[in-house]
Amino acid sequence: MTHTATTPMRAIILFDSKSSGGSTDRLIDSIGQKLADTGAYVEKAKCKSTGDYSFVKDFDVVIMGAPIYYLVVSSELLGALMQSNLKSSLQGKKIALFLTCGSPELMANLLYLPQLKLNLIGSTILAEKIFAPDQISDPAVIARYVDELNDAYRKGLQ
Ligand SMILES: Cc1cc2nc3c(=O)[nH]c(=O)nc-3n(C[C@H](O)[C@H](O)[C@H](O)COP(=O)(O)O)c2cc1C
Repeated sequence: MTHTATTPMRAIILFDSKSSGGSTDRLIDSIGQKLADTGAYVEKAKCKSTGDYSFVKDFDVVIMGAPIYYLVVSSELLGALMQSNLKSSLQGKKIALFLTCGSPELMANLLYLPQLKLNLIGSTILAEKIFAPDQISDPAVIARYVDELNDAYRKGLQ
């Protein structure tokens, strides 16, 4: 299919969290709903470090997100990037990143985001965001992230 500005974006949210129904799960649902409201087709999949990620080729955008536990990105997402075919499947893909954590943004940018980005050389990052605890349920913050992602995606199609 040839993608144009009017073709709906197909997005997959790959995530990990140790708490089912926790803050990351709720954030993912909000991001997914907001993206769907803008006309995108959205799926979500919980990461397994040993999974087969060849299916990501069927999506225009791969959104990856997880919480930080004890200074490290939640293990099934980071493990998938380091051990499975996720990293190679993401070559040349458009991606977006988010993390949930309790640390100040500066620290999170320096310590946590690079854990993902070092494994993503060769992908195009459309948007990245550290969500502080008070931002996880903030519709305006979530809308800004989704708008940034959508704008960068549409720009890339022109
Ligand atoms: C056991 C545990 C360890 C955590 N360690 C960190 C940490 O090292 N740095 C940080 O910024 N936040 C840390 N946090 C905060 C979480 O990243 C944050 O609350 C996140 O939103 C939790 O997501 P969840 O509800 O999906 O589990 C920790 C939280 C827990 C429960």
